[in-house]
Amino acid sequence: MDNIKLAVIGCGKWGMNHVKTAYKLFGEDLKYCCDSSDDSAAKVKAVSEKIIFTKDPNDIITDTDVTAVIISTPAETHFEIAKKMLLAGKHVLVEKPITLNSEDAHILNELALENDRILMVGHLLLFHPAILKIKEFVDEGKLGKLQYIYSNRLNLGTIRTEENILWSFAPHDISVIQYLVNDIPEEVTATGAVFLTSEIQDTTLTNLKFKDNIHAHIFVSWLHPFKEQRLVVIGDKSMMMFEDSIPTDKLKLYRKGIDMVNGLPVKRDSDFESIEFGKESPLELEQLHFIDCIKNSKTPRADGRNAIEVLETLERAQTELIKN
Ligand SMILES: NC(=O)c1ccc[n+]([C@@H]2O[C@H](COP(=O)([O-])OP(=O)(O)OC[C@H]3O[C@@H](n4cnc5c(N)ncnc54)[C@H](O)[C@@H]3O)[C@@H](O)[C@H]2O)c1
Repeated sequence: MDNIKLAVIGCGKWGMNHVKTAYKLFGEDLKYCCDSSDDSAAKVKAVSEKIIFTKDPNDIITDTDVTAVIISTPAETHFEIAKKMLLAGKHVLVEKPITLNSEDAHILNELALENDRILMVGHLLLFHPAILKIKEFVDEGKLGKLQYIYSNRLNLGTIRTEENILWSFAPHDISVIQYLVNDIPEEVTATGAVFLTSEIQDTTLTNLKFKDNIHAHIFVSWLHPFKEQRLVVIGDKSMMMFEDSIPTDKLKLYRKGIDMVNGLPVKRDSDFESIEFGKESPLELEQLHFIDCIKNSKTPRADGRNAIEVLETLERAQTELIKN
């Protein structure tokens, strides 16, 4: 990896995916894994005895060999850890949500720009080959004019008590919708419901209105009998659906729509077409993109600006949840 030595901070449920992926891609260039819990040491050693496990992030800060850090600790710790790492001159990939508020995300973004460091956020779906395929279709005009998009992200658990479902699940959906529309919403409204933990929404419905009469909604819940991760994109020529939780035909194109003929709506109907997309792991693509951006001074697809735009939409939705 041309001497880019890497560290992963936070080796919990998701962080271990980063560790395994980084070791698979970069081998011994993954020099450190850091976690405040002793329990993680054995999990890291099971990946490779050669990775140095530490509980002290200062070991990473002081090791000038290490130039890139992936942070996968709980969201409330992201800001302080990412700030320290940027100040120490490291390039940083931080999990979503980048911080708990956009003010902090602005600070990180400024720090990265001032110090000429890469700051990237783990908006994983922006690296999913199916999402990239949809983006290609949208940008090539194959769907026609975008009309509306919706995303359902539903499952039973994992229940979090420190953040609501909106902050836990919806960063992904917001990042994808804003990426597909290539804009931020003019209006954001949201409603939610609390059943399990006081003041923590278990389900939310967020409406986004973009310019040019493009609309979107996001329905997220961790109190749902089955897993559904469904994204539907409607254009005036064609429509697409990506459903990651079904075994086959995950990405479909529907050459369907309604044409107005002599002032009357006429249905254009046909069967769906299954669309092939790359089988690469999104997390591998995300990490490879991070390293490519470092090596070639490129702006990441999910850069600090992208992270801020997603957080600002989350904040606008959260304000609406409190009102309603
Ligand atoms: N991109 C995705 O698809 C995706 C999926 C799941 C989780 N995530 C995000 O990844 C992050 C971690 O989630 P998780 O489910 O792995 O959480 P987790 O609670 O399972 O793991 C967090 C780990 O961080 C460690 N930790 C806490 N504070 C620390 C500190 N100051 N220094 C070092 N280690 C510390 C904990 O001991 C724990 O092992 C969260 O931000 C979450 O939103 C992203």
